[in-house]
Amino acid sequence: PLVNPKELFQKCYGKYAIGAFNVNNMEILQGVIEAAKEERSPLILQISKGARNYAKLIYLMKLIEAAVQDAPDIPIVVHLDHGDSVELCKEVIDAGFTSVMIDGSHLPFEENVRITKEVVDYAHPRGVAVEGELGRLVGVEEHVVVSEREASFTDPDKAVEFVERTGVDSLAIAIGTSHGAYKFKGEPKLDFDRLREIAKRLPGFPLVLHGASSVLPEYVEKANQYGAKLGGAKGVPEEMIREATKMGICKVNIDTDLRLAVTATIREVFALHPEEFDPRKYLGPAREEVKKLVKHKLRNVLGSSGTV
Ligand code: G3H
Ligand code: 13P
Ligand code: NA
Ligand code: ZN
Repeated sequence: PLVNPKELFQKCYGKYAIGAFNVNNMEILQGVIEAAKEERSPLILQISKGARNYAKLIYLMKLIEAAVQDAPDIPIVVHLDHGDSVELCKEVIDAGFTSVMIDGSHLPFEENVRITKEVVDYAHPRGVAVEGELGRLVGVEEHVVVSEREASFTDPDKAVEFVERTGVDSLAIAIGTSHGAYKFKGEPKLDFDRLREIAKRLPGFPLVLHGASSVLPEYVEKANQYGAKLGGAKGVPEEMIREATKMGICKVNIDTDLRLAVTATIREVFALHPEEFDPRKYLGPAREEVKKLVKHKLRNVLGSSGTV
């Protein structure tokens, strides 16, 4: 069934995490759903503004409705990823989402508090959960200086104040991850001391890790082997994600890894079978690879397998 993530987070806190997978089309959704069914795992399906522009909200909602029917005993959250306005959050709440993110992380603190609280005031009476964000995710290409990068990390004092004043149900924090396929220049490094401190100040409160793809070398290498140019791509090592799930991270956002699985697979089919032109012959294997990848995440990285 479609569920609000609150109970899922209560149950997993400190032990395992719920994967939040970005959905942009039918094949990705089907791969993710098949994985959750086989792994007996709860799931967060997230839709970004970009996904909505690409596929139209009505199509994505109908696909998710079908997925919920196809997996009747799997708890499924439909979440708005990176909501950028109060209006957008209200719109998707009215459309049936069970969770929304209002991302005011680029705004001054007071302004972030104000719009986040406004979303909470609309969402909670309607049974919908709200994720806020404090701190900014900075990619390697945006900054060179380490001190500047660290200045964008989440301040633990501010995190407590933010949660108290807004009433959010979960908080996305910045501890060194970033979106996309180029997360680190040198050795991957996350600020676990900061995560520990935030979790200590907000006991039992669900924290969210964005930019949590691992950029699996097997996909990068396969894509490059068949013509891609993804030199220097680097993600968060799986061991670090595993560690974070034991420290209060309850939601782990994954999009880039799905994109890489799809792209590596399609490139391989194109290269090895240039005579093929039936889209099912490459979208099918891509969907199968998404399923394989998500099963691996649920079982070996997030630890949510077998909890349904
Ligand atoms: O946060 C970024 C997610 O990967 C969604 O990306 O806005 O291109 O759909 P998108
Ligand atoms: P990745 O780019 O690491 O997959 O992060 C996705 C994300 O945070 C979506 O909100
Ligand atoms: Na999100
Ligand atoms: Zn994100």
